Amino acid sequence: MTDTFTIAIDGPAAAGKGTISKAIAAQFGFAHLDTGLLYRAVGARVLSGVEPVEAARTLQPQDLERDDLRTAEVAQAASKVAVIAEVRAALVDFQRAFARRAGGAVLDGRDIGTVICPNAEVKLYVTASAEVRAKRRFLELTGKGEVTSLETVLTDVKARDDRDMNRAEAPLKPATDALTIDTSELSIAQALKVALKEISALR
Ligand code: DC
Repeated sequence: MTDTFTIAIDGPAAAGKGTISKAIAAQFGFAHLDTGLLYRAVGARVLSGVEPVEAARTLQPQDLERDDLRTAEVAQAASKVAVIAEVRAALVDFQRAFARRAGGAVLDGRDIGTVICPNAEVKLYVTASAEVRAKRRFLELTGKGEVTSLETVLTDVKARDDRDMNRAEAPLKPATDALTIDTSELSIAQALKVALKEISALR
């Protein structure tokens, strides 16, 4: 018998969903997939000259290990390839298989609760104001040595939100049965506490 349990965590960039997802996965011993990394890997391949749909269809595990996936440039490229229906379609099977793996799985992204895993046992929508998210992302990027300004990061965050929320294919939005956690005024520990309470109630 296979023991599967899927936790879907969606939300905009830098809302804290990555940190919360990792902590939840560690807490329950579940596998974790950051699905944004798939789109970032496709975006990075496109920046290197590969055609987007081809880049998605021939994505290899080692493409997810590239050092440049966390840059602002790759983030924008990821958001751009993510509007292409064929790119999204090429990544569906891998994500669904991951979600149903034995032992439980946490997937975070933009369309996990709405499209990839509509039957996930737990759905969370982690969000925060654009200003708070831009500040967090700015500190993260400058901490890694990237040269940028808060204003540039805010513009980037808003452009990505706009593209991710208003695309025709699998737009970012909370699933109707998701619990929304606004982290604008919450610490990681506080947000995690809310998430764990929801999971315990549904487990
Ligand atoms: O979560 P992230 O910032 O690493 O995601 C990068 C981009 O990938 C994001 O702007 C939109 C896209 N993405 C998506 O369309 N669907 C997902 N499930 C995950 C990410």
